[in-house]
Amino acid sequence: MSKILVTGGCGYIGSHTIVDLVENGYEVISVDNNSRSSSKILEGVEKIIGKKIKNYKVDLCDYNDTHAIFMENGDIEGIIHFAAYKSVGESVEKPLLYFENNLTSLVNLLKCVDEFGIPYFVFSSSCTVYGNPDEIPVTEATPPKPAASPYGYTKQMGEQIVNEFIKSSHAQAILLRYFNPVGAHPSNWIGEMPIGKPANLVPAITQTAIGKLKSMQVHGADYPTRDGSCLRDYIHVCDIAHAHTLALNYLIEKRNKAACEVFNLGTGNGVTVLEAIKAFEKISGVKLNYTIGERRPGDVIAIYANNDKAKKELGWQLKYSLDDMMRTAWDWEQRLEEDETLYGEQKAGEN
Ligand code: WQD
Repeated sequence: MSKILVTGGCGYIGSHTIVDLVENGYEVISVDNNSRSSSKILEGVEKIIGKKIKNYKVDLCDYNDTHAIFMENGDIEGIIHFAAYKSVGESVEKPLLYFENNLTSLVNLLKCVDEFGIPYFVFSSSCTVYGNPDEIPVTEATPPKPAASPYGYTKQMGEQIVNEFIKSSHAQAILLRYFNPVGAHPSNWIGEMPIGKPANLVPAITQTAIGKLKSMQVHGADYPTRDGSCLRDYIHVCDIAHAHTLALNYLIEKRNKAACEVFNLGTGNGVTVLEAIKAFEKISGVKLNYTIGERRPGDVIAIYANNDKAKKELGWQLKYSLDDMMRTAWDWEQRLEEDETLYGEQKAGEN
């Protein structure tokens, strides 16, 4: 059974990916310093998979602590690296925090990949590497434009760091460019747990609908899109999670065609902010209280994926619709409301 180290395993995509990996026969350990998550989410993971997942509460920016994990686990076959800060808006306000955290942690991990001969490395990248594309949908060959935010630059630089490292390494890598992950696991035991006021659209919608937020703002409705609001490719977090399992299978079975390959993980459907709100209202039956506000600095106007390569090479098949995304996100928000004991009030750094 291949042992996989998932960094950021207590995070949103990390926790869903751990479930998918275990359900597909992998052994998993997590490293997460819980600066933006709570290890309590692993209780939810345990309820789904029926086994405990060990989390090392380590800051990957600390090389010695990171190195110690590999000294203790000599049988790590692959790494999936999620751990990073990911708020577009926050990165505009605090660029150095993003460059230091997201890049130092990556370099420390790659030093361990090198020293311990870890064969496979999957990097959590993002559609933000495309910046504001001239043409959509974007393919993996679409040339990256200047990133629209420091967060986007950390993903562009992260891809370059992995690419250059792999050229001089034994390891093989895959870069997965996520579009907009939303929704929650259908079991309703795990889901997105933003800390403080949510920056992302769907948790802002569900928290407004349940009354946690009085109202929400649509950040701009004067963009050159079909209804003036920004267009994105929203994709269910479980579809994203399964793509990671398929990416590891692809590397371990040596089906990869190059030492470092890139895949878009999007549905191939573009949805505007106002359309996403309408889809939520239809599913939930809740009339959402929102206002149209100013544009948000760092926002890309419109982007969605051409996902042919991941479907063809990885055998990736999407399972969840936009309605499923909204329904599972709403079910999860109601669960959090009903059962505070589930994970308690989400606080950064919580054990
Ligand atoms: C989407 C749209 C907002 C909140 C995310 C992740 C990033 C990366 C890419 C994976 C924008 C608008 C939002 C609100 C709004 N994912 N919005 N009101 O910025 O596309 O980036 O996906 O790597 O990590 O953050 O997602 O959900 O923040 O915004 O109008 O209250 O919704 O302006 O147009 P974004 P988002």
